[in-house]
Amino acid sequence: MKILAIETSCDETAVAIVENGTKVLCNVVASQIDLHAKTGGVVPEVAARAHVVAMVPVLDEALAEASCTWDDIDAVAVTQGPGLVSSLIIGTETASVISHMKGLPLIPVQHISGHIYSNWLGRGEVQFPVLVLTVSGGHNELILMRGHHDFEVLGATRDDAAGEAFDKVARLLGLGYPGGPAIQKAAENGDRSKYDLPRAMMGKESLEFSFSGLKTSVLDKVRAGDVDVADMAASFQEAVVDALVKKVLRALAQYPEIQEVHLAGGVSANLRLREVLEEALDVKFLYPESIKYCTDNAAMIGASAYFSYKKEPENYSAMSNITPNSSFSL
Ligand code: KG4
Ligand code: ZN
Repeated sequence: MKILAIETSCDETAVAIVENGTKVLCNVVASQIDLHAKTGGVVPEVAARAHVVAMVPVLDEALAEASCTWDDIDAVAVTQGPGLVSSLIIGTETASVISHMKGLPLIPVQHISGHIYSNWLGRGEVQFPVLVLTVSGGHNELILMRGHHDFEVLGATRDDAAGEAFDKVARLLGLGYPGGPAIQKAAENGDRSKYDLPRAMMGKESLEFSFSGLKTSVLDKVRAGDVDVADMAASFQEAVVDALVKKVLRALAQYPEIQEVHLAGGVSANLRLREVLEEALDVKFLYPESIKYCTDNAAMIGASAYFSYKKEPENYSAMSNITPNSSFSL
């Protein structure tokens, strides 16, 4: 089954064609990073206009790259939420028109479920139950997955997501946007133990996260002056990684039936986080096969859609009226 998937929840206009939820036939992403670097973050109205301009050329490029025509496509998938409504609507409108005109089933996808399914791309079966750590710009959750599209949120962030913390601290350190890759790069030459930064653990059993205290602590030190950027980047990255890994280990202790741990979302690209998890875990550990599946992309949306469809095909038909749902939960 070939699914054409569309993702426009934030600042990437992305289209992919995925076969049976795992085989990526094409994965086209038109990034707006240069556009938003000027403002140090995404301006929703600017992002929406860029999606309108990019949408049709990206669709054409995807079909050409996969050597597919519309007749080869069996269903359309689209990110319905959460995300910026003005960005999401370009994707939902495009998918609705395609579904209506071509009579193809339309599969709405929750964005985080897409990140979770990025670990199926290029791979085969997984062994449930799986513990997923989602770490992106907007989300930071520990999720127990007992089967396909069976999600139990064990813990989430009380304030900032890990990616958001990376972005904000990068700004404080004058490292630019997006902050995650910039901090990782600066941290390469830094001393991880130079600055003593807080880790919010919130009691012995808690599987929740909090990064606002860490961010404030960096701000206080920057304001006090004389901060070495590389050392601060390395110390900050270590504090985030430490907090994330400790909560993963806690969840494993609380749910010993877990067979695999998966890392998903933009921050899963972070090499230090991968390295420390790899060392700490006894169970099978996966992160997306390629960096391009870590940050926002449409291939992961196609994978999630396939497993939704396979589970309950009767729920999906041609539709002309899918609209964004910014509070769409897992
Ligand atoms: O998943 P994603 O593309 O978008 C959301 O759904 O939010 O995640 C983007 C986030 C940004 O905060 C970015 O700074 C972070 O992922 N990120 C990283 C790295 N690459 C991207 N954070 C840490 N290390 C990286 N190498
Ligand atoms: Zn995302």
